[in-house]
Amino acid sequence: MKRYLVTSALPYANGPIHIGHLAGAYLPADIFTRHLRLRGEDVLHICGTDEHGVAITLKALQEGISPKELVDKYYERIKSDFEKFGIDFDHFSRTSRPLHHKNAQSFFLKLHEKGHLYKNVMRQYYDPKIGKFLPDRYVVGICPYCGHTDAKGDQCEKCGRQIEPGELVDPKSALTGEAVVLKETVHWFFRLSQLKDRLREYVGSKNWKPFVKEFALSWVEELRDRAITRDLDWGVPVPLDDPDAKGKVLYVWFDAPIGYISATMEWAEKVKGDMEAWKPYWLDPDTRLVHFIGKDNIVFHTIVWPAMLMAHGDYILPTDIPANAFLNLQGRKLSTSKGYAIWADELVESLGQDLARYSVALYIPEKNDSDFNVREAFTRTNAELVDNFGNFAQRVLSFINRYMGGVVPIAKEFEAADRDLMTKAKETVNRYLKLMNNYDIRLALRETINLSAEANRYYEHQAPWRLRKENPERAKTVLHVAYHILKVLSALLYPYVPKSIEILWNYMNLPKTDFNFLTSYEPDIGGMPIKESKPLYRKVEEKTVRAWEKELNRRAKAIETTTKEDEPRIKYEDFARVKLKVAKILEAERIPKTDKLLKLTIDLGDERRTLVAGLGHVYEPKDLVGKLIVVVANLQRKKLRGVVSDGMLLAAHDEKGRPVLLTVEREVPPGSDIS
Ligand code: 2FM
Ligand code: ZN
Repeated sequence: MKRYLVTSALPYANGPIHIGHLAGAYLPADIFTRHLRLRGEDVLHICGTDEHGVAITLKALQEGISPKELVDKYYERIKSDFEKFGIDFDHFSRTSRPLHHKNAQSFFLKLHEKGHLYKNVMRQYYDPKIGKFLPDRYVVGICPYCGHTDAKGDQCEKCGRQIEPGELVDPKSALTGEAVVLKETVHWFFRLSQLKDRLREYVGSKNWKPFVKEFALSWVEELRDRAITRDLDWGVPVPLDDPDAKGKVLYVWFDAPIGYISATMEWAEKVKGDMEAWKPYWLDPDTRLVHFIGKDNIVFHTIVWPAMLMAHGDYILPTDIPANAFLNLQGRKLSTSKGYAIWADELVESLGQDLARYSVALYIPEKNDSDFNVREAFTRTNAELVDNFGNFAQRVLSFINRYMGGVVPIAKEFEAADRDLMTKAKETVNRYLKLMNNYDIRLALRETINLSAEANRYYEHQAPWRLRKENPERAKTVLHVAYHILKVLSALLYPYVPKSIEILWNYMNLPKTDFNFLTSYEPDIGGMPIKESKPLYRKVEEKTVRAWEKELNRRAKAIETTTKEDEPRIKYEDFARVKLKVAKILEAERIPKTDKLLKLTIDLGDERRTLVAGLGHVYEPKDLVGKLIVVVANLQRKKLRGVVSDGMLLAAHDEKGRPVLLTVEREVPPGSDIS
């Protein structure tokens, strides 16, 4: 038995959980830990809310409540979001608890005593309007490395580089919009640069995902000492008897990862009732410490946190850091602050826990960013989980109940097709195990569903409903094999859709839920009674898909209005490249076999052209003839349903998204320029 301590990144207690968080860390961590438990390993899955830092204080300011009220509110909300989604932690703590404050302070003191920290004067951004030092994140400006105009004071989200105070070009306060000044203040610095060689060796020895390892290695080379204290009145106070420490707290990224240790200690005390129980997980080098995180957390987990642990000296170092890329939604970036997301609770409400988990698991961004498109995600969930697997389970169990007296039949003799399927199952299990060990959770699911499709084909081909009369002995063998494969599939799918698989195990009369039992061929399953079963899943209906599409469109539009000011502006020369002209519609006709497309012949002054326009659902062709419209005259030609469209007409879109033609206020000759 191996020992694992698995952590999921501590989410900031300043907003609810959405599918981006889930796909990025929590769902893969939950799938991984459920799988390990099924395999009988010793696993602890630890998490909690990250409750310090400026993000929290500012959100509190926005909501007109105190930071304490804010974190209390979101701690409850986040905990409940995870429960609804079936994310199963052994303990879910919070960094504002006294045990954590004490723990983070003694960690700091140990580093201080061992000479890893030093005091230094630094220049920090200061917002003169509110008379406060601003944390780097609340200063925005131009990235000195890539020129990104919306870079934060500590890190550029575009190129991922760490930015030091003073480096940002044209820095402004994100709170007041005022230009900020750099002012001197005293802070404690962590001698990260001294650990460069050890870190290089540590990262180099790891078998991490290539993008994580490369990112970490490039960081090691850029290592500089970092300030680990801040001027703030919310957080873990700097535990030094020094006048300079007054009004200062530990930097949130210093205390947060220590929260993993504090939460494990709290688990030992509160859940296990044994104050010492945390020790093997943090002190024994045989423990595998695995941190599931999103890609924005890579630097802190692969470099800064291992450096802190090295400097401290008592604890083990992270074994694996399975970071994921980002999940987009309908092609756009998710944003908690702008409200553009699918929230965990609403997805479960809409689809039920297992369909929600399945649909998100399909898009875990393991190597690259991925896009959650509701239509595609729900269609695949229907096809794979409901139709493919769910139907197979129901067909097998109801057949046994109806025609085999509710008892798993005994097989007397296997044929090639039976052996073939069982071999495929065995091979699938082997590949699945390798993939899981590599955190290829999406691919492991793919393997499982492929096996389920094989099982369906086998069942369809063998047609036990016919064999029942023609060759009853053979029908028994087929059902015996089908039950066996269903058992294997249940073990592979359990981590993804635990609720329904537990129901299935109850139908199948399989109380022993251990992986080896479920996936190995057990001759004793023959003769075992099963229970009456009901279909495990209900499909996502078309009306649900449409409702989601509509709602997400609405959320996307809402962001567009809030971000108007931040939109990049184009130069007049760029606009001038678009040739807009007035045209007169001469003829209009419907393009056969389409709902919307019209073929228009237009007069552009010195030439006639054909345009294809999607107006047919709103305008009658005859009503368009004679209208003056606005067209983009220099657009590349495009063939639509066999008709070449030579230009594009412009239309506004009403509240229902229907086109409304753009026209001119007074008659002008066709071909007139627009600028
Ligand atoms: O990015 C975040 O949401 C951070 N709160 C993650 C912290 S992970 C760990 F260090 F606690
Ligand atoms: Zn940049």
